[in-house]
Amino acid sequence: MSDVMLEYQKRIQVFLDASLNNLDVPERLRAAMRYSTLSGGKRFRALLVYASGLAVGAPLARLDTVAAALECIHAYSLIHDDIPAMDDDDLRRGQPTSHIKYDEATAILAGDALQTLAFEMIASASSDLSDAQARSIGLKLAISSGQIGMVGGQILDIQATHCQLNRDALENVHRRKTGALINAAVICGALCSDDTSELQLSSLSDYADNLGLAFQVVDDILDIESSTQELGKPSGSDVENGKATYPALIGLQESKKLAQTLYQESIVSIAAISDNTSLLEDLAQLVVKRTK
Ligand code: IPE
Ligand code: IPE
Ligand code: MG
Ligand code: MG
Ligand code: MG
Repeated sequence: MSDVMLEYQKRIQVFLDASLNNLDVPERLRAAMRYSTLSGGKRFRALLVYASGLAVGAPLARLDTVAAALECIHAYSLIHDDIPAMDDDDLRRGQPTSHIKYDEATAILAGDALQTLAFEMIASASSDLSDAQARSIGLKLAISSGQIGMVGGQILDIQATHCQLNRDALENVHRRKTGALINAAVICGALCSDDTSELQLSSLSDYADNLGLAFQVVDDILDIESSTQELGKPSGSDVENGKATYPALIGLQESKKLAQTLYQESIVSIAAISDNTSLLEDLAQLVVKRTK
């Protein structure tokens, strides 16, 4: 991670910590929400919000709110992804998963509460977003995380278990379960600016779509090639669960080539949007270079 990435990682950590501190909810729920949101993670989606917003001149205070909302949705998606009815994994970010640390009911409810908290943050009068921005960002996040996006992808992922998908079908699963939220991070960051052009938005969307698919292709590769220790989540989980993945369908070498191609296409997509795209470029590189 570059110094700039570490700086924004620290920034979102402080903001999330404060946002999750003043919740007037039963202590066990608050503890479970904090546990899964604050302990570790690359903060990739938050960093994308900052990178995209900075590229189009958005104010940092607005980006904080949107970055935090994205991380809350992401944390919720991970808690639910790990429960026994889904991937049944017991390790996340190097610690016991929420349903192991607490119990299944608490894990489900912590995920639910993090999901609604994300929208509360965006709609809140103290968010620094204009009403129009709160509405367009809230709508984008809802569409990307719900049945059309992440949740829709997750059910397709589960239905594909122990099935052989064709390449288009697998791409659809990956674009929805992972790509949609990555697209939302980039677009919602850009929507924090008062004057993002349609051309900038469509270029950023292309960048995010390429990167979102690359992100899950690399996640599939790492599930095979990296260790549980390095990943902080169980390596080999996909094979054990009979998941539909790129390495299973086209092999490791082809998967790596695909990730590289998608990375290069993502860089090309943002070449002309502004002169402040270095963090977007660095994050694209992180996707293909990461080891966890
Ligand atoms: C893991 O996401 C889930 C996927 C969509 C592949 P990350 O790899 O971004 O997880 P953290 O936030 O760094 O733990
Ligand atoms: C998860 O995909 C996508 C989500 C929506 C959370 P995976 O099931 O491959 O993610 P990991 O490997 O458990 O992080
Ligand atoms: Mg999964
Ligand atoms: Mg999983
Ligand atoms: Mg995985």
